[in-house]
Amino acid sequence: MTTPPVAPPLAPAPAVRLQHVGKRYGAGPVVLDDISLDIAPSEFVCLLGASGCGKSTLLNLIAGLDAPTAGTIETPAEGSAFMFQDSALMPWLTARRNIELALRLRGVPRAERGERALELLDIVSLTDAADKRPHELSGGMRQRVALARALAQDRPVLLMDEPFAALDAITRDLLHEELARVWRATGRTIVFVTHNVREAARLGQRVILLSSRPGRIAGQWRTAGADHVVLEQQITEQLRKEIRRNAA
Ligand SMILES: Nc1ncnc2c1ncn2[C@@H]1O[C@H](COP(=O)(O)OP(=O)(O)OP(=O)(O)O)[C@@H](O)[C@H]1O
Ligand SMILES: [Mg+2]
Repeated sequence: MTTPPVAPPLAPAPAVRLQHVGKRYGAGPVVLDDISLDIAPSEFVCLLGASGCGKSTLLNLIAGLDAPTAGTIETPAEGSAFMFQDSALMPWLTARRNIELALRLRGVPRAERGERALELLDIVSLTDAADKRPHELSGGMRQRVALARALAQDRPVLLMDEPFAALDAITRDLLHEELARVWRATGRTIVFVTHNVREAARLGQRVILLSSRPGRIAGQWRTAGADHVVLEQQITEQLRKEIRRNAA
């Protein structure tokens, strides 16, 4: 009797796979060079780097808003939701209507939109502000609405480009907790861009440091079980090295 061969356990296919990705704008300098990166389903990755190193460019490429000039990018067929530094809400629509609009664009039937929008506002702790327009909300509340709207798009991948950069430290801390909770509840794959070491180490399961000119992966850290004080020191030191190298 022969035993059937046992298949080796397969690692789950990555949600996002970048292979040797490069980007330059026209005849300009190389912005991103040879970036290879696998992001697992439901992984929370923070992309860290100095201003101008290519973080937004990389996020745009993953979103499919722009094409790489070298290499390949694989993303889920259902696409990505995007959240920007600025909430980019429609100023004439209430919080709830802003979310309903995203639901409508996704093809959710009218009868379901109202209730679904309220559920999403509840997820970001904003039910009380459902009928307020963006100018009546604080910056933190606007970013919460923007997060709810990004969730309304119901994509497996959520791309966030410095969404909390304009907020004060206390509001930002609150939104970190909120985002971590939303991430655990929804199982989204998140790629979060920041130039704040503490934010990256706090939120991400993995922190990826990009160098500048050209943007390359200059370091990676897993945060699970790490002493955060030590981790943040290590990352800061490496980030400073990158900035000094670039200034030289
Ligand atoms: N559409 C474009 N056309 C030409 N050059 C561009 C374009 N977009 C970005 N760049 C250049 O690419 C480089 C990387 O820009 P990018 O916006 O990706 O940096 P970043 O890391 O997001 O910076 P920041 O932290 O300031 O947001 C910069 O030198 C920028 O001038
Ligand atoms: Mg940017």
